[in-house]
Amino acid sequence: MSKIIVSPSILSADFANLERDIKRVEDAGADWLHIDVMDGHFVPNITIGVPVVKSIKKVAKLPLDVHLMIEKPEKYIEPFANAGADVLTFHYEAVKDVQSIVDLIKSFGIKAGMSIKPKTSPDKVLKYLEILDLILIMTVEPGFGGQSFMADCAEKIPVIKRHAPENLIIQVDGGINAETAKICTNYGANSLVAGNYIYKSGNIISAVQSLR
Ligand code: DX5
Ligand code: ZN
Repeated sequence: MSKIIVSPSILSADFANLERDIKRVEDAGADWLHIDVMDGHFVPNITIGVPVVKSIKKVAKLPLDVHLMIEKPEKYIEPFANAGADVLTFHYEAVKDVQSIVDLIKSFGIKAGMSIKPKTSPDKVLKYLEILDLILIMTVEPGFGGQSFMADCAEKIPVIKRHAPENLIIQVDGGINAETAKICTNYGANSLVAGNYIYKSGNIISAVQSLR
C-alpha cells in the first residue's frame, strides 16, 4: 500500500497565529497543508484568498494543497498558482470544461485536482481520472469545518479506485478522524484532509500519526 498523504486543513487553525499553527503540523510530520478557499457563492462561507496563500508560502515548508470551493475557478487558477499553490483542486460542479481547466493548472507545472460534492455521482467523473493528478471526494457538504463524516460518500472511493490510473491520488475531506480515516484508506483513499480532528484534539502529533 502506498504512503498516506496527510493534509491538515488550516481552516481549523487559529488565524491570528497561523505561522505557529502551520509549524505545529509540520513538526508533527504532516505531508501537505490543506488551504480551503471559499467565495460565499459556491459555498455559504468566505475564508481565505490569494494574499493569504502568498504569505503562507513564505513561512510554510510543506506543499500547499489548495481546495477551491468557488464559482468560475478558471478565473483564479493563475493568481493562486503564482501565490504558491502546489496542488490546485477545483470543483466538478463549478466548471463547464474540465479538460481546459486541468490544462491551465498543469501549465503552471503544478498538480491538478478535481473535487466532487456529496450528491455528485462518481460515474460523472470516471472519464476524467486519466487527466487528473488528484480526485477529492467530499465526505461532508463543503463550506465548514467540524461536520460529521458522511459514510455513504466514502462508498464512492472503491468506484473511483477501480477506474483510477495507478498514480492518481484519491483524497477525502470532511469529518476525518482516526476511525473514519481507516474506513477511507481501506476503501483505497491515499490522502486524508483533516481540520478539527488535528487542530482541536489537544495533541497534534498523535492526531497526525493516528491518521497513517
Ligand atoms: C470543508 C473543507 C474541509 C474542512 C475539513 O468544506 O473543505 O477541508 O476544513 O474540516 P474537518 O476535518 O473539521 O471536517
Ligand atoms: Zn477542503
